[in-house]
Amino acid sequence: MSDTATLTRKADFPGLVTQEGEVWHYLDTAASAQKPQPVIDAMSCALGKDYATVHRGVYGRSAQMTSGYEAARRRVANFIGAKSENEVVFVRGATEAINLVAATWGMTRIGEGDRIILSTLEHHSNIVPWQMLAERTGAKIEVCPLTPDGQIDLGALEAMLTPRTKLVSLAHVSNVLGSVLDARKAADLAHSVGAKILLDGCQAAPRMRLDMEALDCDFYAFSGHKLYGPTGIGVLWAGSELLEHMPPYQGGGAMIDKVAFDGTTYAPPPQRFEAGTPMITEAIALHAAIDYVDALGPDRLFEHESRLAATLRDELRKLNAVTLFGPEESAGIVSFALEGVHPHDLGTILDEENVAIRAGHHCAQPLMDHLGVPATARASFGLYSDESDIDALMRGIERTRRIFG
Ligand SMILES: Cc1ncc(COP(=O)(O)O)c(C=O)c1O
Repeated sequence: MSDTATLTRKADFPGLVTQEGEVWHYLDTAASAQKPQPVIDAMSCALGKDYATVHRGVYGRSAQMTSGYEAARRRVANFIGAKSENEVVFVRGATEAINLVAATWGMTRIGEGDRIILSTLEHHSNIVPWQMLAERTGAKIEVCPLTPDGQIDLGALEAMLTPRTKLVSLAHVSNVLGSVLDARKAADLAHSVGAKILLDGCQAAPRMRLDMEALDCDFYAFSGHKLYGPTGIGVLWAGSELLEHMPPYQGGGAMIDKVAFDGTTYAPPPQRFEAGTPMITEAIALHAAIDYVDALGPDRLFEHESRLAATLRDELRKLNAVTLFGPEESAGIVSFALEGVHPHDLGTILDEENVAIRAGHHCAQPLMDHLGVPATARASFGLYSDESDIDALMRGIERTRRIFG
């Protein structure tokens, strides 16, 4: 190993150094990505010398911020292959995007006895909003099983679909197993019975080239902080026709056309879904993050991270003391269990070695139940990861084994 082929300069990421100035082997990118300097600079300028609120001001600075905010929306649209920036709704994150769909489209289009299909590997954000909707409407949740290697079983999905299926909502990439969904096939299947499909793109947006037209999904959700941007901003994409017919989510400023006590009318999408002062600085920083990622090339990101995942799986296998979860071909995310060591203990010892992994249920408790474990250790790569991070992780695991020997 120690071929330190890297996609970008680690030096672009000030967060990859410990407070003592040592190298930090950050292997928790699936939870949240470190930020490159251009994103930090964009955020800092937007909060500092460029700052003003948007949409309301008649003064120049506000007009400039408004065009920066709307340029960010166009940049997102272009990055994900949307037909128009009006299909891009800024939200707080993927969680809010999914809740928005459940509360608006779901409350008007899903009724008693209708079916919503999820899968065993979903993040809680793509389970709980649908359970809440089901409680309110009397709809039923059905769970699509996984193949033995941890992919969503599209054969099983096909068999589950009926005219009562109104929504299929699936992770494009699993945050625990790294499994990549054949999203287009899932969309075609859902559409074959007239159901809509929502893709939770939280782990796909930072790792894959996205093209809404080619995916042919109905809703797509992701978070900015996993895409090397700031927290507090995410994206809900939906086609114009769908958005047009969805009622507002929250009420307040900015989402209205005209307010009167005898009746209020609403703005067209996407503003209809963006009540209140928006995440101005976050949108501008997200724009910078997308520029950064796009310049490297999403296809190269996928190739880079899946290669690192394959290398790590090989190294872990050599120990003969590790259970590996998920498919061999993973989008840069590797979950495992080390014999005789609780993932939390492993995570704590690795921390002493300046290696950060995640230990826990990863907000996917039904998947943990399915795997028969309370928690897994998870190493997830980012565009700044390289073999030196795998070397450090393996050294830390060897030390842990000696301690628990
Ligand atoms: C697959 C998946 N879906 C949804 C989420 C929720 O994202 P957020 O907490 O940014 O809203 C995450 C975050 O871990 C995720 O990995």
